[in-house]
Amino acid sequence: MRVLALLALLAGSAWQLARGQADDACQASDRTYSTETVPAASYQPYEQLNPVVGGMSTKFYVTVVNLTPHRFHLDSTHAYQMNTFDFGDVPQGRARQNAIQYRGTIDTGDDAGEAYYIVDGTSKTFALRIKSYTSGDRRRVMLDLSGMELGQREYVFPGGETAVSLVITGSDKYGFQASLRHGTGGWMHELYDVIRDRPLRHLIVPGSHDAGMSTISDEITSIGSAANTQTQGVNIYDQLRAGSRWFDLRIASVHENGDAATVRGFWALHVNDETASLSIGNTGESLDDIIAQINQFTAENPGEVIFLPLRYLVGRYQFPDNGPIYWDAGLTNTFFAKLRGLNNRCANLDTSGGFQNQPASYFLDRNDGHGCVLPLLNTQHLDASAGVPHDAPGDGIYDLGLAFPTLVDHWSNMMQASDMAPDQIATWRSGTGTRGADGSSSDSSNFLIAQWLVTPDALASTAYTLQNFALEPTNPSLYSAGVNGIDPEHWPNVVLLDYIGVQKQDQWAWDSLSAEAYTLAIGLNLYMASENCGVATHRSPLLRTASLLTAENRRINRTGVYGEQAKKKKQWNGIIFANGTVLDHPPAALHPGKVDMLRAGTVLGNGTVLTESVPNPWV
Ligand SMILES: *[C@@H]1O[C@H](CO)[C@@H](O)[C@H](O)[C@H]1NC(C)=O
Ligand SMILES: *[C@@H]1O[C@H](CO)[C@@H](O)[C@H](O)[C@H]1NC(C)=O
Ligand SMILES: *[C@@H]1O[C@H](CO)[C@@H](O)[C@H](O)[C@H]1NC(C)=O
Repeated sequence: MRVLALLALLAGSAWQLARGQADDACQASDRTYSTETVPAASYQPYEQLNPVVGGMSTKFYVTVVNLTPHRFHLDSTHAYQMNTFDFGDVPQGRARQNAIQYRGTIDTGDDAGEAYYIVDGTSKTFALRIKSYTSGDRRRVMLDLSGMELGQREYVFPGGETAVSLVITGSDKYGFQASLRHGTGGWMHELYDVIRDRPLRHLIVPGSHDAGMSTISDEITSIGSAANTQTQGVNIYDQLRAGSRWFDLRIASVHENGDAATVRGFWALHVNDETASLSIGNTGESLDDIIAQINQFTAENPGEVIFLPLRYLVGRYQFPDNGPIYWDAGLTNTFFAKLRGLNNRCANLDTSGGFQNQPASYFLDRNDGHGCVLPLLNTQHLDASAGVPHDAPGDGIYDLGLAFPTLVDHWSNMMQASDMAPDQIATWRSGTGTRGADGSSSDSSNFLIAQWLVTPDALASTAYTLQNFALEPTNPSLYSAGVNGIDPEHWPNVVLLDYIGVQKQDQWAWDSLSAEAYTLAIGLNLYMASENCGVATHRSPLLRTASLLTAENRRINRTGVYGEQAKKKKQWNGIIFANGTVLDHPPAALHPGKVDMLRAGTVLGNGTVLTESVPNPWV
């Protein structure tokens, strides 16, 4: 008896031990990523960019991105006066572009459909409500995540045949986050425990294409207009808060006409060719403003890595003919003096193995945990033979080519998202973007920049604006085609975007932005990369039994303010309407767009058509 009891005890503790290890060690058998086939993504056809054609469109999509270990199970749908209402399950790690087509061309005010989802294996639910209205923005979507305690937000489709996107990450154990609202801003700090041991080539971060062009400042006299030259809606500070960490910054000095010695400051510049005798384009933010905004962000959000690849680095006259003015050592040193105004630079980093091979903690831990701001110079126009410096490592200013020797910057140079997206995906699914797969031989040493943007010609960009090219065909396709092109073994390191954070045309105030890119950044590092045991040594934090605090609270804990009080304060289950109105404490029964009576003619998900009106059984 005693022996048996002892054996049982031993067996019990061995089991406990095995269980303890399993809870912390990455194991292939834990993988939840689904390879199930989902419907292929549609791209907005080009003619829909014409506002007249797009304005008459009746066809739209709602893309749902699932970066959780739970399947999103479609429980039921019903639709009234819709030609198409094609919703379905969203498997783990995948995106589904759900199709809607309103019947007729005139909104009737009573067209409506709802899709109800269950987050499998949890008590959480969410609903997507599609409605037409007779005034205001007439066709709107309500993403109702109140069943996950993540609030509700109403969106307008950005254009004809475009998508509204919803990104959800986290898990029942870890807590969920969704793209209806931005988080604290410091997503890397929030994920510190997840990413600290990963080399930079195993991270994925959003980036800003032509990041300084959030305004047209006319420091040069040229025909570059907001339509064809402006590439961002919000400044660098808000781009940082919207999740961007890699800033494609093109900086030039502007000089008095005919007087190269008189410098009118350093400016972001976007031109067709910075070394042409006549450059066409315009200037954006000043370097001084950019530096001040980065310093404001890092003061408020310590513990991030911010990459500042800097190019152009030439001068132009106010009237930008008479060619470039190549910088001499003196002007380059004046520029370096400006860069020394950046706080949290990281001096004397080891570039010998390439930054892509350094763990994230190498950067995040510097400056007493405040992280690093890394100016990285593209030196192509800096003439070393004339004594022009290429870097100043003692000041934390680096030569991009030395810091990232394996950098691949892939620009498709295509006008259509339907051409660009497959081209970008093919690049990261080739060897260039293969990550940590089973051992080391197939783990790419490249640091890959995916330019998720289209390049319309001057005529098309002037007619339809770079903003609409970004908001209509291009950015929504990242959440359908792009996400389904990413799996636990393949991804780019930077996804470069135009108009990051902006969801609705010309709505650039912080509270009007939407957090798809921000939530994608968290979800791809937290969920996707964690399912690859060649990348993550530990078990996915989303599966561990120990991680019961929400991401928000973990952050609060690290900064020292923690408790039920803080937790309660951070919970939000309000409503954001498309017109900007916010209800922080709506009545529990308020679900705008909800249908109380299913009218005769309503089509249920199983094909049944109601012959008489009945109360909505899912309310
Ligand atoms: C959070 O902070 C409290 C108070 O300092 C501490 O007792 C608790 O262990 C912390 N939890 C985590 C997960 O760090
Ligand atoms: C915004 O929309 C909400 C809901 O439709 C409405 O109650 C509110 O009055 C609107 N606010 C403005 C300023 O139009
Ligand atoms: C379709 O679904 C409705 C609601 O759940 C149910 O009442 C009805 O019996 C179903 N019809 C068929 C043919 O399964």
